[in-house]
Amino acid sequence: QQREKADLLKAYDFAAKLYHFILNNTDQGKAAKSYLVSRGISDKLIETFQIGYAPAMWDTLVQQLEKRGFSLPLMERGGLISARHEGGGYVDKFRERIMFPIYDATGKTIAFGGRSTGDAQPKYLNSPESFLFNKSRTVYNLHQARPHMRKTQQVVLFEGYVDVIKAWEAGVSNGVATMGTALTKEHAALLNRNADKVVICYDGDNAGQSAAFKSIPILEEAGCQVTVAMLPDGKDPDEYVSTYGFDRFVREIIEPAVPSMKYKLLYIRKNFKLHEEGDRLRYLQTAVRMIADLASTMERDHYLKQLASEFPDSSYESMKLDMHEILLQS
Ligand code: GTP
Ligand code: MN
Ligand code: MN
Ligand code: MN
Ligand code: MN
Repeated sequence: QQREKADLLKAYDFAAKLYHFILNNTDQGKAAKSYLVSRGISDKLIETFQIGYAPAMWDTLVQQLEKRGFSLPLMERGGLISARHEGGGYVDKFRERIMFPIYDATGKTIAFGGRSTGDAQPKYLNSPESFLFNKSRTVYNLHQARPHMRKTQQVVLFEGYVDVIKAWEAGVSNGVATMGTALTKEHAALLNRNADKVVICYDGDNAGQSAAFKSIPILEEAGCQVTVAMLPDGKDPDEYVSTYGFDRFVREIIEPAVPSMKYKLLYIRKNFKLHEEGDRLRYLQTAVRMIADLASTMERDHYLKQLASEFPDSSYESMKLDMHEILLQS
């Protein structure tokens, strides 16, 4: 078991180096390189994140692993290659994909995220879970972000690999991402061990905004202080950086991140027609209930006042009475 683990780690490390070499030094890698450059991913970033390219052939990696004496059945169990559907033998799992190595906390490669450069589906193919890789306990870029997380006691949480990478270039060196799965309690605990504050910076589309709403309580229950950075027009961080540049990303998106309560109030607002009296009252009731959940009296009062000042036809006093009733009931 220990032996198998060591072998698989060695193989993942080798594969990452092979894919990286192919991207940088071969004809097959050229188109992939131009694709990365067109997306604003420079040579320097390719180095920092050890990005690679898995070529189109069926068995580039299989052949190299075999030549080096790795056990192919073990490599298959470890998610690095696939068994042929018929006829026996093995084929590469990743073909014609940009390869993002996924590291454990100490910087060992334990999986890959592979992005297709064309229309091939799925857009991202991630390594399956294995005895090295547990998705719900792994965040992308932890090994590089961790010292910065500890120093600033802050972490920026993204949805995608590319968001982390582009933000890194913008100077956000405390950025990490979950990998296509919802944030878990284990992720939250992992972040909380390294930083007090979490800035959620998910995509500005509906999926991203709803995921942010769901991640807030998970992070708060783990003890994190949460703010949310909001992206306009359905953009994701990577697109925002490409359109508006690094400086504006930091100044207009990361720095103005709002406290989680403010985000939650903005988020639920969309479900109400605030110009209609009945809906407006229902919004206020829902909002007051949310605010009542806050642990500190001062915070509750702060948001209640804010809410009251936004809706002059409902008084602060009546909201406060409503909240007291809610608090008494709970
Ligand atoms: P780019 O188009 O390369 O900029 O990717 P993105 O990060 O903007 O993609 P998206 O917002 O759609 O997805 C965010 C993250 O979800 C990705 O980084 C992946 O980890 C994951 N993901 C996206 N598409 C897929 C998919 O088809 N399969 C799997 N398993 N994960 C995906
Ligand atoms: Mn290199
Ligand atoms: Mn998305
Ligand atoms: Mn995205
Ligand atoms: Mn993107």
